[in-house]
Amino acid sequence: MCGIIGYIGGQPALEVALAGLRRLEYRGYDSAGVAVVVDGGLHTLRRAGKLANLEKALAESATSPRGTVGIGHTRWATHGGPTDTNAHPHTDCTGAIAVIHNGIIENFASLRAGLERDGHELASETDTEIVAHLLEDELAAVSAPDGTAGAGAAEGAETAGASRLTEAFRRVCRRLEGAFTLVVVHRDHPDVVVGARRNSPLVVGVGADETFLASDVAAFIAHTRSAVEIGQDQIVEARRDGVTITDFAGNPVEGRPYHVDWDASAAEKGGHPYFMLKEISEQPTALADTLRGRLSNDAEIVLDEERLSAQDFRDVDKVFIVACGTAYHAGLIAKYAIEHWTRLPCEVEMASEFRYRDPVLDRSTLVVAISQSGETLDTLMAVKHAREQKARVLAICNTNGSTIPRESDAVLYTRCGPEVGVASTKTFLGQVAACLLVGLYLAQVRGVLYGDEVARYVEKLQAMPALVRQTLATIEPMRALARTLADARAVLFLGRHVGYPVALEGALKLKELAYMHAEGFPAGELKHGPIALVEEGLPVVVVVPSPRGRSHLHSKIVSNIQEVRARGARTIVIAEEGDTVVEPYAEHLIRVPATPTLFAPLVTTLPLQVFACELALARGLDVDQPRNLAKSVTVE
Ligand code: G6P
Repeated sequence: MCGIIGYIGGQPALEVALAGLRRLEYRGYDSAGVAVVVDGGLHTLRRAGKLANLEKALAESATSPRGTVGIGHTRWATHGGPTDTNAHPHTDCTGAIAVIHNGIIENFASLRAGLERDGHELASETDTEIVAHLLEDELAAVSAPDGTAGAGAAEGAETAGASRLTEAFRRVCRRLEGAFTLVVVHRDHPDVVVGARRNSPLVVGVGADETFLASDVAAFIAHTRSAVEIGQDQIVEARRDGVTITDFAGNPVEGRPYHVDWDASAAEKGGHPYFMLKEISEQPTALADTLRGRLSNDAEIVLDEERLSAQDFRDVDKVFIVACGTAYHAGLIAKYAIEHWTRLPCEVEMASEFRYRDPVLDRSTLVVAISQSGETLDTLMAVKHAREQKARVLAICNTNGSTIPRESDAVLYTRCGPEVGVASTKTFLGQVAACLLVGLYLAQVRGVLYGDEVARYVEKLQAMPALVRQTLATIEPMRALARTLADARAVLFLGRHVGYPVALEGALKLKELAYMHAEGFPAGELKHGPIALVEEGLPVVVVVPSPRGRSHLHSKIVSNIQEVRARGARTIVIAEEGDTVVEPYAEHLIRVPATPTLFAPLVTTLPLQVFACELALARGLDVDQPRNLAKSVTVE
C-alpha cells in the first residue's frame, strides 16, 4: 500500500505533490520521492525514510524544480527493502520516463528477466522499475514507422505524442499481472500525466485548469472536491483541461464523476470517522494482497527473502510460533493448520515467556515469529534466542525492512499496508493467511501434501477475500447489537478448535478498546471453572464451528450454549449460514459464510472486531488510540 499523486496544471507541481504526500503518508512512510517535468528534462529525487527526509533533501538541493507537471510517491515496501534506490519514482534507461506504483506486479520476475536479456539495466529490487523499461520499449515500438500510433496519428504533433505514450502504456498494462495503480510522466510529453489501475485505487481530481491523479481524494481535497472514479482495468490520460479514460484495449470509457464532501481528515480515513473502521473495511484487500502471487506456475508456494533452502524446511522436526497480542492469536490458529497439514508438532508461545523457560531448540526447529510491526522487543528477543540456539527463524511481518525480518532466516510479508489503529484488525487476517501459507509450504516441501492438494487449498484460500467482503457487507446486526451492550459489565467469549483463538481475540479486542472485563475460553473448559462467572444477563459470545467440518464439536458447543443459557446468559452466536441447529439457542444469531474448517477464523473474527469497536464507540472511547497501549512496543 503506497500513496500516489500526479499533477498537471498551473501551480508548482513539486509543492502540490509534497502537500498531497503529507496527506497520504498514512498509506506508507518508509520512503518517498518526486519527479517533475521541467523544460524537456525530468527532475527526480527519492529518499528512504519518512517524507521529512525527502523534504530536507529538497531544501538542501541547489535547484528546486519549478515545473507544473509532476508525480509524488510515499512507499510501503513490498519488493525490496526501504532504500533510496528502491524508492519511487523509477526511471527507464534513457531517463525520460518516471513511474510510480502502488500494488504488486505478480509476473515481474519473468518480465524483468526478459528486459535484462534485451540489455536493460535495472537498478532496484522493485517490481515497479520494470514498468519504466517496458514502457521505454513499447514507446519505441509505437513510435517506429510501422508502429500503430492509435487515434493520435492523424492529430497535431503534441497530441499524437501523448496518444503514443498512452497507447504504449496500455500495451504495458496488458502485459502486467497482479495489482497496480501506476502513474507516469515523460519528459518529452509535458502535456499529459498518464495513470492506470487494476485492483488498486486511483481517483481523478478535476480542478480549474488543473488535474490530479491520486490514490485517494485526501491528496487533492485542498484544491478541488470534484472527483472522477477510475474503474478496474482502465487508463486515464490527464491534461490540464480534463481527462480521457479508456479500457486496456483502448475503448473509450465514461468516468463516474462525484463530489467529495468529506473534510481533509475524514478523507485520510477514507470517509470513516476512525482508522480502525477503515482498516476493518480494508480486510478483503489486505487478505487478497497477502495471498497475491504466492503460488508459482508449478504450484510451489513462494516466500519473500528466503535465506533457507527447501532442504532446511525438510529437516524441520518441530515448529515453535512466537508472538505477542493479536499476533499470538494468529499463531494459535496456525497451530491447528500446521499440525494437521504437516504432522509436525507445533507449539505456540507468548514471545515474552519464550526464552525465559529454556525451550528445547536445535537446528531442526523452525521458529515462526509473527509481528505486524517487526519491532516488538519481546518477539525480537525470542528470535535472537532461537537463533543463538541454532534454530531456523521464519518471520511473518507487515513492515518491510523492520528489525525482526532482518534478524530472521526467511520472511513472509503480510501485505496489509500500514495499520494506524492500535488494535490490529487487517494485519490479523494477513497473519492468519500467511501462517496458512507457511503450513502449506511446509507440507509441500516435506511431501506430506501433493502439489495438486496444495493448489486446491490455495484456490480455496484465494476465494476467502470475497467471503470476507460478504461478511462485512452483512455485519450491521452486530453493530446494532453492540450499541445496546454499552453498559454491560463483562463479556465472555467461547469457542472450540480454531474458534478458540478467535474467542481469545474477541476478548482481547474488547479489553483493548472498550476497557471491559472480557475473557475467552475453550467452550469445553467452561465447566471447569469459568461457568461460575455466568450470571443473569451476562453476554456470552459463542463462535460455533461448522456442522459440516467437525460435527462432533458442533454438537458439543450447542450443549455448551445451553449450559450458559440455563444460567441466564444472553447468547450471541456466530454461526455459519445454513446452520439451523443453533437457532433455538441463540438470543442473537450472527451469520458468517460457510468456509473450509481451517479458514473459518478469516470470517468469524470479523463480527468480533466490529462488536468491540462499536461497543467502545458507544461508550464514547477513542478506538484508534486506546488508553495505555502503543502500536509498537519496544520494551520488554
Ligand atoms: C502491541 C499492540 C497489539 C499487538 C502487539 C504485537 O501490544 O498493542 O495490538 O498485537 O503489540 O505487535 P506486533 O507488531 O509484534 O504484531
